[in-house]
Amino acid sequence: MTKQEEIAKLKVEKDAVILAHYYVEPEVQEVADYIGDSFYLSKLAQGLTNSTIVFCGVNFMGESGKLLSPAKKVLMPDLHADCPMAHMVRKEDVERYRQEYPDLAVVCYINSTAEIKTWSDVCVTSANAVKVVRELSSHDILFIPDQNLGQYVAQQVPEKNVMVVDGYCPIHNAISAHELHELKQAHPQAQLLVHPECPQAVREMADFVGSTSGIIKYATENAGQEFIIATEIGVSYELQKKNPDKMFYFPKTTPICPDMKTITLDKIIHVLKTGENQANLSAETAAGAKLPLERMLELSK
Ligand code: 13P
Ligand code: SF4
Repeated sequence: MTKQEEIAKLKVEKDAVILAHYYVEPEVQEVADYIGDSFYLSKLAQGLTNSTIVFCGVNFMGESGKLLSPAKKVLMPDLHADCPMAHMVRKEDVERYRQEYPDLAVVCYINSTAEIKTWSDVCVTSANAVKVVRELSSHDILFIPDQNLGQYVAQQVPEKNVMVVDGYCPIHNAISAHELHELKQAHPQAQLLVHPECPQAVREMADFVGSTSGIIKYATENAGQEFIIATEIGVSYELQKKNPDKMFYFPKTTPICPDMKTITLDKIIHVLKTGENQANLSAETAAGAKLPLERMLELSK
């Protein structure tokens, strides 16, 4: 039996469904029932009827799945797959802002630990951050932990006072404007599509800024035939699948998220067989972290 056949058999036996982020390896995306960006996957987790979800992504994704569907068993193929940015804000900093700005809304990127979510008023993903912040009644906003997405939101919603902390995604933040300029020179017809976790110098060069699904949708629906892509290399699988005749160019220093790449077919088989690596949260953390996520789903409707 192939690994793919074994996974298919185990899924039926365990009443399991497999969710995968676009950044995991292509062979993992191939066995997934649903593939998407963080927003799509978090919305989806709530509506599934299977008793077990295998979440192929980093820890905060499994935690969010568990928060939104607490009755389900949420299995993480590798508990060491952890987004470094998800930890990049301190509680004392959030408390200091709260004291200084009585009307403050703390807006928390979903790429954060469940504990950090409990300090926040509402969560966002890169797909809905601008919309959700616009909907908030507070004028003063603290955006945590990603400074790049936070700055992008500040620029898109100038009527609000959006403040940021100094967190960042090491992969997107390292995408270099210089390498993109070189790519643009080599491919003058290509449009540049950029994830908002990239630094401002990169966002300023973009023809389009959006989440991973936003980038895939833009490239698929646009009449253009060539695109320079400034996000994690994992999206190339879906881009090529949807657009076999179009050309996609990535920076020569390839943006690779090592945590996303730790998910393998063997690890999926292991958690399906054993039920190990459940995403579990204390009742207190779960209660505090669920509300901002639910508020996000409500405000982004
Ligand atoms: P999206 O899934 O919102 O595009 O975010 C990208 C990312 O870095 C996920 O970890
Ligand atoms: Fe975190 Fe960046 Fe990896 Fe996404 S790509 S999981 S933000 S380190």
